[in-house]
Amino acid sequence: MPVTAADLRFTGRHLLGIEGLQPWAIQDLLDTADGYVELNRQPDKKRPLMKGLTHINLFFEPSTRTQTSFELAGKRLSADVVNMAMRSSAMKKGETLIDTAVTLNAMHPDVLVVRHEQSGAVALLARHVNCAVINAGDGAHEHPTQALLDALTIRRRKGRLAGLTVAICGDILHSRVARSNLLLLSAMGARVRLVAPPTLLPTAVESYGCEVFFDMARGLEGCDIVMMLRLQHERMEGSYLPSVREYFALYGLTGDKLARAAPDALVMHPGPMNRGVEIDGTLADDIERSAILDQVELGVAVRMAVLEVLTRHLREGGA
Ligand code: CP
Repeated sequence: MPVTAADLRFTGRHLLGIEGLQPWAIQDLLDTADGYVELNRQPDKKRPLMKGLTHINLFFEPSTRTQTSFELAGKRLSADVVNMAMRSSAMKKGETLIDTAVTLNAMHPDVLVVRHEQSGAVALLARHVNCAVINAGDGAHEHPTQALLDALTIRRRKGRLAGLTVAICGDILHSRVARSNLLLLSAMGARVRLVAPPTLLPTAVESYGCEVFFDMARGLEGCDIVMMLRLQHERMEGSYLPSVREYFALYGLTGDKLARAAPDALVMHPGPMNRGVEIDGTLADDIERSAILDQVELGVAVRMAVLEVLTRHLREGGA
């Protein structure tokens, strides 16, 4: 039987991570997202794809970009979007995550978008509901829609992913963004380098199949993309660094360090950004080099695509 376009569509029930996704499924999500970029620049941004469907955002950790863009994405697709106020939810009265999931499930949502501080919590919750679940970041495990929007940003600015060299720099140890990006970029044929002090790298980093650099200048040599990460103090127990000043001197992105990368290297950061800690503020604002606001813009398109794809079976009369 010949392979058709329908055979190469993302068909998962949930989006819990990049791990396990085939390159063609990633391609489907990126192509679908690309189709929403222009729509989001028009005065009328609405499409009726999710009319009648209910989308609940359940964020147990703070978020600016992910939560807002999921809310916008749901509303632009005409879903009824509910943002749970976790500070005033019954979990504050002792209700468990599973009981919260089962309770929300009884209200027949179609999509739950969940961020949680524990790795694996979103997958656990997904086992107790009937609807699609999207991982909006679980502990240091995965943040799949961030990796997808980063990939779309790179693909639109560089025209491809395969063959590019991407340096992911900073607090790799605590970063779900680094993990999802490493998985996605490697699957799509990019070469990934990790650049960090030894204290901010996972112990089994050699098994990741990518190059590791402790020296930032060497790590950035000739690379096409420089992806900076913030220090995730909220996940650190004890001291990982002598001082923020020393960290910026060794691992903060400055013009001097960026000069080691390819002349047209793109600077990226998932946000939130700490100026003067992992990145020089002037560089972050340099629209010739920095794609940081592109990432934010494309985040809405990617989340619309993920919502579209995960609810496709409801429009096509499937299970
Ligand atoms: N990149 C990211 O996840 O940002 P938020 O924490 O603001 O959602």
